[in-house]
Amino acid sequence: MESCNQGWLLLVGILVTLSLPYSQAFWGTENKIQTSVFLSPKFVLGPGSVENRFYYNVDFPKGHIAVKSFDAEVIDEAGNPVPLHETYLHHWVVARYFVRKGVEISEFDDHAKFNRSDYISGRNSGICPNLVQFFGLGSETRKTSTHVPDPYGIELGNPAEIPAGFEEQWLLNIHAIDTRDVENKLGCTECRCDLYNVTVDAFGRPLRPDYKGGLLCCYDHTQCRVKHGFKGVRRTLYLRYVVKWVDMDRSVLPVKIYIFDITDTWKRTPNSTGSITEHQCKVEYDIEPCHATGLADDGCIDNRRISLDMPFGGYLIYGVAHQHSGGIGSALYREDGQLMCSSLPIYGEGEEPGNEAGYIVGMTTCYPQPGAIEISKGETLVLESNYSSIRHHTGVMGLFYILVADQLPKPMHTLHTVIQTHDSIMLLTILWAVVAVIAVAIRYRLKREGEDGYEAIGI
Ligand SMILES: *[C@@H]1O[C@H](CO)[C@@H](O)[C@H](O)[C@H]1NC(C)=O
Ligand SMILES: *[C@@H]1O[C@H](CO)[C@@H](O)[C@H](O)[C@H]1NC(C)=O
Ligand SMILES: *[C@@H]1O[C@H](CO)[C@@H](O)[C@H](O)[C@H]1NC(C)=O
Ligand SMILES: *[C@@H]1O[C@H](CO)[C@@H](O)[C@H](O)[C@H]1NC(C)=O
Repeated sequence: MESCNQGWLLLVGILVTLSLPYSQAFWGTENKIQTSVFLSPKFVLGPGSVENRFYYNVDFPKGHIAVKSFDAEVIDEAGNPVPLHETYLHHWVVARYFVRKGVEISEFDDHAKFNRSDYISGRNSGICPNLVQFFGLGSETRKTSTHVPDPYGIELGNPAEIPAGFEEQWLLNIHAIDTRDVENKLGCTECRCDLYNVTVDAFGRPLRPDYKGGLLCCYDHTQCRVKHGFKGVRRTLYLRYVVKWVDMDRSVLPVKIYIFDITDTWKRTPNSTGSITEHQCKVEYDIEPCHATGLADDGCIDNRRISLDMPFGGYLIYGVAHQHSGGIGSALYREDGQLMCSSLPIYGEGEEPGNEAGYIVGMTTCYPQPGAIEISKGETLVLESNYSSIRHHTGVMGLFYILVADQLPKPMHTLHTVIQTHDSIMLLTILWAVVAVIAVAIRYRLKREGEDGYEAIGI
């Protein structure tokens, strides 16, 4: 009897000892995660109106940190989420820049007034010169998980990367369209020029006659056509954004952000160097309806593919695409056709925020096991973006964000490597469940033995 109990205790001891390094490492990382919740400057929208503002020097965690996740949503003054069929979030974008110390930039400053020698863009590592953002999504924001798996993080505020005499700041661009009581909700969200009665761009330059819709027609303070006689109330909104981060230390491995764009016109020539100046990313494109193109036999799918040479190498850690309504999926392949990462839209089916019918409310993401997918420097990858071409769409997008690491997690001891994976969380849970069951069993036995008048032994 006694030896049997001691055997159990030994087993418990082994399990506890075995699981301790996991639990400490796991909870250690968890505990360090800080959460900062910020509100953008407020913006006011009435039916049909558009806000497309750039806010400088917005709140962001300071110091040498590693970002673990970034999430955002539009809320009203009461703090309630606003549904997409009322306020369509065309996009939000968060970008880094460096400003000369002592130069004051206010939230509402206009970029045009900055002295160029005082301002340096702190862009991501990607190959589109005009896509500078670190974070950015659109209608899918509420249901798209954008967290960086352990032990990785997006390193920011590294003093060695900030030009001498400069400091790091952040800008936020929010593009939102109020579609309450408009004539054509989809048309307003796709920025169709006729609905906005727009023939010149934000700078007064005439639009090409064949430009039917897109960002050039729904700039700040344009107005989409509302139903006749409608006078709706204007309301105040905010973008609430939540940054989770840890202090940067040696246990955090940095990842770099690369953004690809299906409209990138880059083509390999004997002269290409792979420099980002060779890339031209148009960001938006149109989908011609299949009945008009006479290509209905393609299943009414607009399938675009481009090949891009990677000017970097590393391990793929995370991937997510950005598409607009009508999108049916995007993927990144190797040149031989092997799928590396795909990201599919999730459409809402109801009324409530996060589930709005007809809108893309989320994009699936991919999290390859670190090390499973390696990109070699110079390798050619294929980016694909599919849209339904059952109807005409203007101003759609096909971006693909990936996070790439130079290093794989270094095991501290042989079992350590699995800590950060879901498998290990499962393993940990099972271990603790076994420990708990044994502990309960022992207590039960001891209690029984106590009740039976035996001396309690052991513990
Ligand atoms: C911009 O800054 C540089 C260096 O600080 C200065 O020489 C120049 O006069 C400034 N230009 C303007 C338009 O303020
Ligand atoms: C559209 O714009 C034109 C020129 O700016 C203006 O004359 C016309 O009244 C506008 N139409 C509507 C319906 O607002
Ligand atoms: C490639 O470089 C050569 C020599 O510099 C030049 O003559 C040629 O026009 C270039 N070709 C392209 C496609 O840029
Ligand atoms: C895109 O469409 C093509 C052609 O229909 C299909 O083969 C491919 O699997 C689709 N890709 C994604 C990511 O949905």
